[in-house]
Amino acid sequence: MSKIRIMFVDDEPKVLRGIKRMMMTVQHDWVINFAESGDKALEMLALEPYEVIVSDIRMPGMSGIELLTEVKNKYPSTVRIALSGQVDNKDFIKSVGPIHQFLSKPCNAITLKSTIVRACALRSLLDNERLTRITSEMESLPSLPDYYKKLLEEIASKDASAKSVGKIVSQDMSMTAKLLQLVNSAFFGVARHISDPAQAVMILGMNVVRDLALMTHTFSQFKISHDKKYLLDALWNHSIKVTGLSEKIARAEDFGKEMLDEALTAGLLHDIGKLVLASKVQSDYDKILKEISQSGKPAHEVEYDIIGASHAEVGAYLLGLWGLSDSIVEAIAYHHDPMKSPGSKSSCLTAVHVSNVIAMNSHKLKPTDEDLIDGICMEYLEKLGLVDRLPVWLKTCREELLEDINNA
Ligand SMILES: [Fe+2]
Ligand SMILES: [Fe+2]
Repeated sequence: MSKIRIMFVDDEPKVLRGIKRMMMTVQHDWVINFAESGDKALEMLALEPYEVIVSDIRMPGMSGIELLTEVKNKYPSTVRIALSGQVDNKDFIKSVGPIHQFLSKPCNAITLKSTIVRACALRSLLDNERLTRITSEMESLPSLPDYYKKLLEEIASKDASAKSVGKIVSQDMSMTAKLLQLVNSAFFGVARHISDPAQAVMILGMNVVRDLALMTHTFSQFKISHDKKYLLDALWNHSIKVTGLSEKIARAEDFGKEMLDEALTAGLLHDIGKLVLASKVQSDYDKILKEISQSGKPAHEVEYDIIGASHAEVGAYLLGLWGLSDSIVEAIAYHHDPMKSPGSKSSCLTAVHVSNVIAMNSHKLKPTDEDLIDGICMEYLEKLGLVDRLPVWLKTCREELLEDINNA
């Protein structure tokens, strides 16, 4: 296997020397190079490819944002990490587009190494050059127009609160993913992983969320032909249903607060890869939709046949790049095939896999218990010793489905 190539860019020689010292103990399978300006970095990139670039933001001449934007356009597969000192809120918000992850100076060796290791490990999830490139290019994902409008109206209203705005955000996968990317960047100095969208709005503050919402490229609306709108509506409804069912299972399993938040968010975001495919590989996606309706085969199988990977790996890759927690990334990557996960305890993946199957089967007319669990990987539940929990989950999920029908 070829060595992973990483470039650090900073105009201060002292900082580069510090990073050099920090990286001395790093695995020998990394090639690490240094550039003292954006121009020099681009020259080096033109000569050889790099998997990861870590750049300062404030530099004389070409700024870090200009450099990372250029890298995004020319070498989209390269993972783009900002390592910067003080940046004010406004600059940070303006800069979020081309940056996958943001680290604050001074950054300790453990954080720096683990961020890079994690970014590189993601490549094993999505072993497909074209899809890796397309996914790495994504700065944001489109929201459904209804939710986007609701968010703008709520933000403009006198009674808006972090709670009311958080509630709208938590129903929309694109806004949730973007806010969690931001709040989990080192810029906001939060020590643990945040997976609850309402808490993300609280930490970011209403002004930041307002500025983000008004920046057209951060939360955009889905531009889609009328004939496909029903597909998006169905995807949104399914994701919200899986969120509700995941919550029920997580509560039945007594997940702590952190795991509960993760299960809910993974439920909402588990099919986010479909948005990447629908907005970035439209003609292939049309073929995929046609094949699904003709063959009746599950979406992920048709996607493997036509594009060589499924929405599960694409979504997991994107959210891993954006710095969401490992358990959310794992739940998304393996929600169709949980046996691929090495885990041996009940987790966010368990809740999302089971909820996804039950949600898909709940469309049948008066489904029996056998109907609802058709497709759950029993081998996985046996491995975890959780087969006897299935009746409990079914009961609580039926209550949730009934509540859904009554509220409709
Ligand atoms: Fe899926
Ligand atoms: Fe799904």
